[in-house]
Amino acid sequence: MHLAAFLIAGNAAHSQALWRHPESRRGGFLELDYYRHIAQTLERGKFDLLFFADRLAVSTRYGESHRHGIAVGDQDATRLDPLPILGALAAVTRHIGLGATRSTTYSQPYSLAREFATLDHLSGGRAAWNVVTSVNQGEADNFGLKETLPHDVRYDRADEFLEVAHKLWRSWSPQALHLGAGGRYADAALVEAIDHHGAHFSVRGPLNIPSSPQGSPVIIQAGSSERGQDFAARWSEVVFNIQPDLPRLQRFYGDLKGRAEKFGRRPQDIKILSAVMPFVGASRAHAEELREQANALADPLVGLSTLSSHMNVDFSAYALDAPIGDVQVSGIQGLFKLLKEISAERQLTLADAGRLYAQGVLTPQVAGTAADVADWLEHIVAQGGADGFVISPSHLPHGFDDFVDGVVPELQRRGSFRRNYDGRQLRAHLAA
Ligand SMILES: Cc1cc2nc3c(=O)[nH]c(=O)nc-3n(C[C@H](O)[C@H](O)[C@H](O)COP(=O)(O)O)c2cc1C
Repeated sequence: MHLAAFLIAGNAAHSQALWRHPESRRGGFLELDYYRHIAQTLERGKFDLLFFADRLAVSTRYGESHRHGIAVGDQDATRLDPLPILGALAAVTRHIGLGATRSTTYSQPYSLAREFATLDHLSGGRAAWNVVTSVNQGEADNFGLKETLPHDVRYDRADEFLEVAHKLWRSWSPQALHLGAGGRYADAALVEAIDHHGAHFSVRGPLNIPSSPQGSPVIIQAGSSERGQDFAARWSEVVFNIQPDLPRLQRFYGDLKGRAEKFGRRPQDIKILSAVMPFVGASRAHAEELREQANALADPLVGLSTLSSHMNVDFSAYALDAPIGDVQVSGIQGLFKLLKEISAERQLTLADAGRLYAQGVLTPQVAGTAADVADWLEHIVAQGGADGFVISPSHLPHGFDDFVDGVVPELQRRGSFRRNYDGRQLRAHLAA
């Protein structure tokens, strides 16, 4: 089983009530020590990696203004840049993988290839990039686009972006650097220009950074459309999803692993990690209390602000006490389809859907003793629903402590999870 941690370098995670949770350290998300505690706890729990989701704008869709999302502290109210944080965390950890989200729509391959090559060097081979194409208007408004690129154009650009970035990471042979006593810095014959000229990018290369320990960062992706899943099957080593139940997990798992072959890859080359928010108690009743305490803080209008941002639609224009109607969204289509299905199954109003979204987007919650939670995780993996999990916290910086001190040892006793890291590089953790 593989374990990752889901983080946002700001006030929320999947849970948009995170910053209001009484156990969360007030404003801690602006301090390095907060992230240090989280990373060291996860490393003590032998997690494969931690990663930061990211977005490049505050929410601007709800009420067509930034004011609501800022006032209530929705999921986009604050996001520090994850890469400098990962650089700092590389210095205080030794094994855990370090992942950051960067957008292919609003970055250039050359600068992005440098950022991740740098992180991979400084961390001794632990860098990961969560590739996103960016869906919302707020981001377009911050980067000079009238509107977001059309869906398939975003993925065409992303495909070419990945080709260019990989060419840059390969532009130095691992043997190129000499640092020879005779004054020879590198073997220039082993460093090649890439001379890429495509529809979206023109890049001469080579990179100005020697080959890094992993050669390239581990690629993570979370697309859910047809095109997005093909992109994932072609490029990703880790795929991250949110699915609320076992049948949906199994469907996603089978579909994505099936696509791998189309791109000459083996199903085991892609690890599918599914999001879950655990509540670990001394008893089941205690765990339920913890879950209720967290969920009681979830405010429907905060959830609808985040939903508006994710779906690129102004949900303030719809009645709160009616079911979600036939709204057309241009944002995260897969997640919206899921929300509509769940709303229909449970007969939810828009306000209920907002509350659910605020609790944790649509991340399933599991409450129980350490043994109960371990049972649930093992069951999903045994039934072909996932290769592991993305653990989502309800509060921070101590929100992983009970999982690491209770569930991880339980999984280790059962032989379901590593007791020690075998290697120092993230790709080695994922292969083990
Ligand atoms: C679980 C999950 C996590 C995601 N994290 C991010 C993120 O951090 N930043 C972002 O811009 N998009 C994020 N996305 C959006 C996806 O990367 C992708 O852009 C979106 O699903 C739309 O692609 P699609 O049309 O292929 O579904 C996430 C999506 C899912 C389902």
